[in-house]
Amino acid sequence: MTERTLAIIKPDVMKAHRAFELIGMITDHGFKVVRCKQMHLTADEAEEFYAEHKGRSFLPELVEFMTSGPVVVLVLEKDNAILGWRELMGATDPAQAAEGTVRKIFGTNKGINASHGSDSTAASAREIAFFFPAHCC
Ligand code: RTP
Ligand code: MG
Repeated sequence: MTERTLAIIKPDVMKAHRAFELIGMITDHGFKVVRCKQMHLTADEAEEFYAEHKGRSFLPELVEFMTSGPVVVLVLEKDNAILGWRELMGATDPAQAAEGTVRKIFGTNKGINASHGSDSTAASAREIAFFFPAHCC
C-alpha cells in the first residue's frame, strides 16, 4: 500500500554539507519526495515534536542538537514507506546500524544520528500535519 512518512535530515548532516547526498540515497531507494523544506527548529517546536519523549533523560540533549542548526523536513512516498524508511535509516545507534544504512553511513553516535523517521501510521499522520499543515505548502 502506498504510504507517506515524515523524514528529517538532522543538523549533523546539514553541517557536513551532505543533505543532497542523503536525499539522493533516499530517491535511489524508490522514495518519491512529495514535500521538502529547510527550517531551523525552535526549542518549543522540537519539544512539541518529540512530546513522546517528555521526561526522558536524553530529551534536553536531543532538543539542543535538533535546534543547533537547520534541518530538512521531507514527506516521502512509497509502498510501505513507514517501515521502508525506518529500515533504510537503520538502528538508532549508528554503532548498531547495519552496513549500508543511513545511520551507519552518516551518523556519529546514538544522539547525533543523521535522520528521523516516523515509527507508525499514527506518528506519520501527526508528524506530517505538524510540519505541513493543510493550509501550508
Ligand atoms: P527518531 O525518532 O529520530 O527517528 O529515532 P528513533 O525512533 O530511532 O529513536 P527514539 O527512541 O525515538 O529517539 C529519538 C532520538 O533521540 C535521540 N536519542 N538519544 N542518547 C540517547 O540515549 C538517545 N536516545 C535517543 C536520537 O537522536 C534519537 O534518534
Ligand atoms: Mg522515534
